[in-house]
Amino acid sequence: MSARVAPDAVRTVTCIGAGVIGGGWAAYFLAQGYQVRAWDPAPDAEEKLRHLVDASWPALTELGLAEGASRDNLTVCATLAEAVEGTDFVQESAPEDLELKRKLLADIDEAAAENVVISSSTSGYPMTDMQTACARPGRTIVGHPFNPPYLIPLVEVVGGEQTDAEVVEWTSAFFEAAGKSVITMDREVPGFIANRLQEALWREALHMINAGEATVEQIDRSITDGPGLRWPFHGPMLTFHLAGGQGGMAHMLDHFGPSLLSPWTRLDAPELTKELRDAVVEGCEEEAEDRTIDDLVAERDRQVIAILRAMGKA
Ligand SMILES: NC(=O)c1ccc[n+]([C@@H]2O[C@H](COP(=O)([O-])OP(=O)(O)OC[C@H]3O[C@@H](n4cnc5c(N)ncnc54)[C@H](O)[C@@H]3O)[C@@H](O)[C@H]2O)c1
Repeated sequence: MSARVAPDAVRTVTCIGAGVIGGGWAAYFLAQGYQVRAWDPAPDAEEKLRHLVDASWPALTELGLAEGASRDNLTVCATLAEAVEGTDFVQESAPEDLELKRKLLADIDEAAAENVVISSSTSGYPMTDMQTACARPGRTIVGHPFNPPYLIPLVEVVGGEQTDAEVVEWTSAFFEAAGKSVITMDREVPGFIANRLQEALWREALHMINAGEATVEQIDRSITDGPGLRWPFHGPMLTFHLAGGQGGMAHMLDHFGPSLLSPWTRLDAPELTKELRDAVVEGCEEEAEDRTIDDLVAERDRQVIAILRAMGKA
């Protein structure tokens, strides 16, 4: 068996699936100076991918490109086999469909050289459930990013039951060498850590819209002008530590702990009826006013960079 390349010696990466997330990964890896090979079966995939890379490039340039970084280092391939040829690492970002991912990971496993690590961007499937059809499941792992992967530093790394422990270590070291902030989980949790938290908020928001308790705009502003301003620095836990004054978290829990029992949260998901779907879509369109998706992406990128700079992280 040939040796696996060292995590900081990776030169070529492959992106399988090149939509919002796969395209975002491709842009990020290009900016970090890697050679990027991409494959996506959609007929218009290359056009969309190049549009996304071009749209992200001003933000990436502003943050500073690695030596040798260039959009010319992107090769869009006609087949999966061509895309994994000579690669050091594969990031899969195909649609969130368990059967599709099972088959696709098995296909990548069959095509890629035996020591290449295969990471999935899945938002919540445990790798244990996705690696079942692979001949060499030991090298399959979850590397869960956040949109846009070219700006948000976090990646959650977690293996499945058949993933080799050494592959978990290698993948975390690789993402760190690539400039990411890595959380390595020692067990599988549905939704990982961050998505579990995001989904709780999302579920409550849908409940409030469904019940007519809040508009889409009010929900967004309640976070952007409220708790969201504290989260980039301290996260929800240290934020509440300070909410307890000099008594810190101990006072916070003793004081507000009993309110955990009050019916503020509604843990079951609301039914996604057509009315609810339409109200959420219309609310977003109203809030966006005349800003297109491209305008909103550019606006978001500028703001994320400003926040990263304010925190001394860029
Ligand atoms: N959008 C997010 O915010 C987000 C965040 C983190 C993780 N993810 C995860 O990333 C993955 C991709 O999501 P997305 O938002 O980029 O979706 P998307 O719909 O934007 O892109 C999916 C891409 O996969 C391609 N595709 C379809 N069938 C394929 C196949 N058999 N093999 C390879 N590619 C195929 C499609 O043509 C499309 O370009 C999902 O697993 C999703 O859960 C999404």
